[in-house]
Amino acid sequence: MEFSMIFTFSTTLLLFFSPSFAKTASYPPTLLSPTPAPAPAPDYVNLTDLLTVAGPFHTFLGYLQSTKVIDTFQNQANNTEEGITIFVPKDSAFSALKKPSLSKLTPEQLKQVILFHALPHFYALADFKNLSQISSTSTFAGGDYTLNFTDASGTVLINSGWSKTKVTSAVHATDPVAVYQVDKVLLPEAIFGTDIPPTPAPAPAPEVAPAADSPDAKSADGKSSSASSPSSSSPDKSSAYRITFSLGIWGNLVLAVFGLVVMFL
Ligand SMILES: *[C@@H]1O[C@H](CO)[C@@H](O)[C@H](O)[C@H]1NC(C)=O
Ligand SMILES: *[C@@H]1O[C@H](CO)[C@@H](O)[C@H](O)[C@H]1NC(C)=O
Ligand SMILES: *[C@@H]1O[C@H](CO)[C@@H](O)[C@H](O)[C@H]1NC(C)=O
Ligand SMILES: *[C@@H]1O[C@H](CO)[C@@H](O)[C@H](O)[C@H]1NC(C)=O
Repeated sequence: MEFSMIFTFSTTLLLFFSPSFAKTASYPPTLLSPTPAPAPAPDYVNLTDLLTVAGPFHTFLGYLQSTKVIDTFQNQANNTEEGITIFVPKDSAFSALKKPSLSKLTPEQLKQVILFHALPHFYALADFKNLSQISSTSTFAGGDYTLNFTDASGTVLINSGWSKTKVTSAVHATDPVAVYQVDKVLLPEAIFGTDIPPTPAPAPAPEVAPAADSPDAKSADGKSSSASSPSSSSPDKSSAYRITFSLGIWGNLVLAVFGLVVMFL
């Protein structure tokens, strides 16, 4: 009884370590280890897409892209439970902006201004009643870059400390992504609250040179969405090739030995 068990065990081991078993075990690997099915992403909101069709929000979208903040926001929308709330000024809000021109900002300050337009949490319009109880709400820009909300019988008022505006419409409000249109550009007090206009620091070769209020829309290059999917058939093919190749070597060897034998006869 015990012997037969040991025998079975060792036979199994032998089988396991035999080259033929190893071959079937390693090729193709996808058959043995079930790969997780590609998760259906019904929640996925393409922010670029959304801001392209609504608005017009071209100026804000241009800034999002030139500062690369779009990646931060899209990542938050894609990969967090918290979600995101973005306040988007219309193009007309940017053209109405005269005194503290955004073009005077350093790339770093401009990035802060754009980050200032979003909260790292999804808020439905009804949630702002609660937020108005809180004195200040943190934005993506962090630190002193906070916003105050007031609920004026259904209208959400926003105070940046330097500018006051309100939510004029909900572009998108499905958890985890909220996008609200606002009347004015949100100017953070941390940048604009000083009497001295922000002087451009000697930026070492700025990657994003904000020459004007209108950002370079060309930087929004459509990177091909061709996700490189390594075809599962390629490892099979290479293994098949390797097997035929090694068979070829053995075949040649056998032929050579045969030839030698014939020569000596
Ligand atoms: C998002 O939408 C934009 C504009 O339609 C498109 O160029 C881009 O490829 C989309 N991104 C993804 C990840 O689908
Ligand atoms: C967001 O998700 C989409 C679809 O899954 C993907 O194509 C895109 O690269 C993701 N973007 C980020 C920044 O995670
Ligand atoms: C709003 O505040 C009330 C009490 O102040 C609390 O009970 C409720 O859960 C809050 N709602 C949200 C969505 O945070
Ligand atoms: C927000 O409100 C609090 C208290 O109501 C006040 O101390 C603070 O200065 C306000 N901040 C802004 C940016 O308006």
